[in-house]
Amino acid sequence: MRTPLVAGNWKMNGSRASVKELINGVVDGAKAINGVEIAVCPPFIFIADVAAATQGSNVAVGSQDVSTELKGAFTGETSIEMIKDFGCKYAIVGHSERRTLYGESDEIVAEKFTVVKNAGVIPVFCIGETLQEREQGVTEEVCARQIDAVFAAQGDNAFEGSVIAYEPVWAIGTGKTASPEQAQAVHAFIRAHIAKRNADIAEKVQILYGGSMNPANARELMGQTDIDGGLIGGASLKADDFLAVCAAGQ
Ligand code: PGA
Repeated sequence: MRTPLVAGNWKMNGSRASVKELINGVVDGAKAINGVEIAVCPPFIFIADVAAATQGSNVAVGSQDVSTELKGAFTGETSIEMIKDFGCKYAIVGHSERRTLYGESDEIVAEKFTVVKNAGVIPVFCIGETLQEREQGVTEEVCARQIDAVFAAQGDNAFEGSVIAYEPVWAIGTGKTASPEQAQAVHAFIRAHIAKRNADIAEKVQILYGGSMNPANARELMGQTDIDGGLIGGASLKADDFLAVCAAGQ
């Protein structure tokens, strides 16, 4: 049995004051939630505050991105050791917004995955097709290509101790959720694709769904055999909504 993980991706939202209120609400409400792993991924600049507020709680912290480089003259970048130093358990890599808006190729994302994994932090590796790709019927090819870049960098056991998030790009922030059947079909494909390299790891890896998951649809989505939680954007910005999604994973 895989324990579900619900992770909030706050993206570039919040102020110091609003983040304080949000994380205190999440930490407080999370006390009543059992059997679900919970994480929040704030913007870098708020990680220190959020890490302090989550200390001793069942809410873990993650970053939304990481540098491919380990240290040195890389203005504006944040290294995995810095992320680790502030207590992050997770680091998101390859979010579609990074891939499309900041030109991160499959190879760059695989490099980031490697940096995170080598540091002992858990990569939350995001994949997913655009609307055009879905309409062309190449969803599986796209997901396989994105996954294979990580296999090429890390070998057959690449996904041991990591998390995958399937996020159809057309469902992110649009209010258009993949139906539970659509999502389950891709999740099953992803697990089978990983099983070709290592069946044991495929069985254990948590595969999250992301894309307009909210309190109204979370239970049905997470009720699917191969959906092991969610990566939540919009609905993670209100403590009550996020906690309702977490509770749906119980
Ligand atoms: P959304 O974002 O829940 O707002 O669709 C999900 C994500 O981008 O991780």
